[in-house]
Amino acid sequence: MEPSTLMTTFYVSQSQIPPADADSAVHDIVAKSISRNRVSQITGALMFTGEHFVQVLEGKAAEVDTVMASILADPRHDHIVVMAREKISERLFSDWDLAYSGPSRFVIRNLARLRRASSVADRRQETRWLRDLLLEFVRHNGSE
Ligand SMILES: Cc1cc2nc3c(=O)[nH]c(=O)nc-3n(C[C@H](O)[C@H](O)[C@H](O)COP(=O)(O)O)c2cc1C
Repeated sequence: MEPSTLMTTFYVSQSQIPPADADSAVHDIVAKSISRNRVSQITGALMFTGEHFVQVLEGKAAEVDTVMASILADPRHDHIVVMAREKISERLFSDWDLAYSGPSRFVIRNLARLRRASSVADRRQETRWLRDLLLEFVRHNGSE
């Protein structure tokens, strides 16, 4: 992919943050990410379920790959599964440097389904569906 190509990536990971520290730790991640993403012209959304993170990032391939390299090395989560990395023609989350949403029971339920999806086609379909759901969710409940 060309460094200037607009792309999106979507991953699911397992939180390593002790539950008692979660509120302040996640608040800290979001606050720092918003200002960094703004500088890098990255947009996206993060959902924290208490157990898992679900994140969508969009931007120029070079910028997204740089931030993803830090995210992949971040010890606050592990078992990071990148569900999608693809070229896009326009941003879905253009209004948010990083929209944040807390747990949605609906997403948690469907996250379990996504993690169980075995075929490539199933995973792709579940990924699209969950990403659109996240977009709907942050449109109504998200904050920056
Ligand atoms: C779940 C999760 C999501 C994150 N999202 C972002 C993000 O969108 N943008 C960002 O700059 N950092 C994000 N971070 C923080 C990075 O992993 C990293 O701490 C930060 O970019 C500093 O990286 P550096 O120490 O390599 O400079 C996230 C961390 C976690 C655990």
